[in-house]
Amino acid sequence: MEWILASNNEKKLKELREILGDMGITVRSQREAGCDFEVDETGETFAENARLKAEAVTRATGKAAIADDSGLCVEALDGRPGVHSARYGPPGATDAEKYTLLLKELRGKENRRARFVSSICCTFPNGDVLTAEGVCEGEILPAPRGSGGFGYDPVFLVSGLGRSMAELTPEEKNAVSHRGNALRLFRQRLEEYLAANGE
Ligand code: IMP
Repeated sequence: MEWILASNNEKKLKELREILGDMGITVRSQREAGCDFEVDETGETFAENARLKAEAVTRATGKAAIADDSGLCVEALDGRPGVHSARYGPPGATDAEKYTLLLKELRGKENRRARFVSSICCTFPNGDVLTAEGVCEGEILPAPRGSGGFGYDPVFLVSGLGRSMAELTPEEKNAVSHRGNALRLFRQRLEEYLAANGE
């Protein structure tokens, strides 16, 4: 079975290959599948955006497509940056500039609770859709810590671990992260789906 990842992000491709490889599913990037377009993420939720991306690629290729949409939701900011996490701050802002802006917005606020969310959507050529969502709870640190990961990882203290997401090894991050949790649930649902559909 060949699936297309609705993204050209190498990190996402690697994570998906690790989780789906032993199920006999080959995952190709959008570019490898000859789809040279970027889908506008106009949805109001992570789930809507993941579905928009997967559907566009299935329409273009006639193949099963998988997409994920993720971001950071901060309680004291009414869930921002949320679906706009990648585009937070001025255009072209670096990861460090984005989390510095976040720290500034949170200055003086007592409630630092936040969660990472990852929503996965897989669309099949026959119209079937499989979804899964994962979260990782934590709080926003007063200053960055650690050098691993990407994005907002240095300012995110993982609940129960006492370490920032950027202080975890890739394996440790995968074991607790929103994307890891979403992918594990997705795999479970996919196994049930394939069993029920005789594959
Ligand atoms: P997208 O899912 O590729 O649309 O982008 C989501 C954005 O959310 C990224 O650009 C990051 O800013 C942020 N984000 C998503 N997952 C993580 C993570 O695991 N660590 C840190 N930041 C993340």
